[in-house]
Amino acid sequence: MNVPNYKDAKSREKKGVNILRDFSIEDDKKKIGNNKKYFIKTYGCQMNERDSESIGAILEEMGFSKVDDYEVADLILLNTCSIRENAHNKVFGMLGRIKRLKEANPNVIAGLCGCMAQEEVVVNDIMNKYKWLNFVFGTHNIHKLPTILSEALENQIQNIDVWSKEGDIVEGLPVKRDNNYKAWVNIMYGCDKFCTYCIVPYTRGKQRSRLKEDILSEVKDLINDGYKEITLLGQNVNAYGKDFENIEYHLEDLLVDVSKTGIERIKFITSHPWDFTDGMVDVIKNNKNINPFVHLPIQSGSNKILKLMGRKYTKEKYLELVKKIRENIPNCVITTDIIVAFPGETREDFEESLEMVNLCEFDAAFTFIYSKRAGTPAAKMECDISKEEKENRLRELNQVVNKYSLESNKKLINTVVPVLLESKSEKVGMLMGYTDTNKLINVKASDDYIGSVVDVKVTNVRTWSLDGELYE
Ligand code: SAH
Ligand code: SF4
Ligand code: F3S
Repeated sequence: MNVPNYKDAKSREKKGVNILRDFSIEDDKKKIGNNKKYFIKTYGCQMNERDSESIGAILEEMGFSKVDDYEVADLILLNTCSIRENAHNKVFGMLGRIKRLKEANPNVIAGLCGCMAQEEVVVNDIMNKYKWLNFVFGTHNIHKLPTILSEALENQIQNIDVWSKEGDIVEGLPVKRDNNYKAWVNIMYGCDKFCTYCIVPYTRGKQRSRLKEDILSEVKDLINDGYKEITLLGQNVNAYGKDFENIEYHLEDLLVDVSKTGIERIKFITSHPWDFTDGMVDVIKNNKNINPFVHLPIQSGSNKILKLMGRKYTKEKYLELVKKIRENIPNCVITTDIIVAFPGETREDFEESLEMVNLCEFDAAFTFIYSKRAGTPAAKMECDISKEEKENRLRELNQVVNKYSLESNKKLINTVVPVLLESKSEKVGMLMGYTDTNKLINVKASDDYIGSVVDVKVTNVRTWSLDGELYE
């Protein structure tokens, strides 16, 4: 049994990163899932979605086949997220339902993985109150799943195997992608920024950039498999390469090389304003297949709060960056994340966040009420903002944010935008897809267009989505 601990999770020693390339599943474990069905539910961000694509592929190599209804599954796996309290609550709610299912059918095997598995408090809770859960593994040992699962099945005792370590890079895990046209490509793992409110550096370990060769070879394989779009993934992609010891190679260089592969569309998330260079602006501007879309979380518009958050930029620096992007890439969509009611946020601080939304005119924003995460520095900060006031701030912020989202969409009416059509829309006779600037759009088109990038004339807009027709 290995249980997580925060002390090891936050340590950052100066030592190199191991790249493991020897993943394989032993023959005796390849039959474990024969005639058995698995269900996986993924919470949280794209990193988790990408991890689930590998977890699914590993399970299929072990003989399991996928189902979309947990009630008919032999194996249920929850790939969890720790970012806010409500992410936790959703998982615990689901565990309640799984418990009832297991009571009716004790042969069902259930496991939990992902970021919550890396949390000391969660694993303690599981050991005390969820003894029926068969196994738990973390974000660092997905490649050990065949062993963990076979041990859980053999021993019939709760198998907890979570590593609190800085982390390796594991190459060569199988992957079964959820989408046939667009793919997630990890370019780095972990995070060393330690923003004071955030749990990610503890649940995902230190920043480890994948080697350029591995990334490019994955992209080339995707092109050969007919993929049209890739999204390069990392917690702060602008810091890509900064952890290499003897290599000078950064996100700008990687983007240029990925662009040269000829893949039709390239997106990248998430950008941290701290490391966003002028060179990046030029690279987006000068390479047609790099989409004019930047997700640039501001978190707060108050310099006092930004400092308490450990974000390492000021609102002035942020504004300068937004201005630079808008001037150089006029059609660029800029979206953001904003937290309200961080400990110590006064009404005036909050109004500065509103002011930044007005100044930056974000095309869209994800907004959150600050959520205390055990083990992070902000968890020790005093917060005397009432629940009602927190909710009022969020509501007020959303009103302003939504106004700009709608305005941003309105600018597109009657213009022609490139869209990757992905699947049938919920609206009859229409397909759904995303523009190059990551806006959701429903398009009147026949199913033959699924999987292609087409020019679409925008005919109608709402706050969160667009409608359009093929432009021929
Ligand atoms: N690496 C990205 C963010 C990843 S988490 C970045 O630095 O920009 C996604 C978003 O969740 C964050 O941008 C932040 O707005 C929000 N978030 C993270 N921790 C939070 C917390 N404790 N409470 C509320 N929101 C949080
Ligand atoms: Fe969390 Fe900050 Fe790292 Fe983003 S950059 S994952 S907010 S610590
Ligand atoms: Fe959640 Fe972990 Fe992602 S905490 S947001 S799933 S990195």
